[in-house]
Amino acid sequence: MGASVVGCEREEPALTPIVSPTRAVLPWVGFDAARSWPAAAGAFHSRGHGAGRYDATVRVRPATLEAYRSAVSGAVFADGSAIAMFHRTTDGGDGSVFSMAKADGAWTFVAAHGDGTLIDGDTASCARCHDEAPADHVFGPPKPTAR
Ligand code: HEC
Repeated sequence: MGASVVGCEREEPALTPIVSPTRAVLPWVGFDAARSWPAAAGAFHSRGHGAGRYDATVRVRPATLEAYRSAVSGAVFADGSAIAMFHRTTDGGDGSVFSMAKADGAWTFVAAHGDGTLIDGDTASCARCHDEAPADHVFGPPKPTAR
């Protein structure tokens, strides 16, 4: 059932992106599609991004949904897999959207603002941390924070 995140102390300022803030304002072409993808699970409290200050929903391209939900350690995702994580401030404001898509055997990481414009910066930090993930750079479905 999902949205059950509680306990954040106070309102936070705008999301502090892991990558640096914009110079160019470019739309992320995948944004509208990603918003329409099914949610892999209910909203949860992100532990990996923004030092735990955000709630998030993971949306997955329909063809990737089953692989994502059933991902176990060592699983490998097919080319064409795509996953997007929508962050929200604890007061429900729009946060950034982090996404990863696999083509030719490699993941590409993208970070966008809540309005769908790209966050211009280096995504090497995304890849570095996701290198540690158990299932082909993917951490897998969030565990509900409460039920
Ligand atoms: C310090 C580690 C870390 C960094 C840096 C990081 N992530 Fe993540 N990411 C995680 C963790 C942990 C999760 C699992 C959900 C959670 O608790 O946040 C996750 C989840 C995701 C997901 C959902 C798919 C999955 O793995 O289950 C996407 C998409 C994603 N991150 C994209 C990005 C992008 C894009 C960046 C860079 C802008 C990035 N991440 C940077 C740790 C990180």
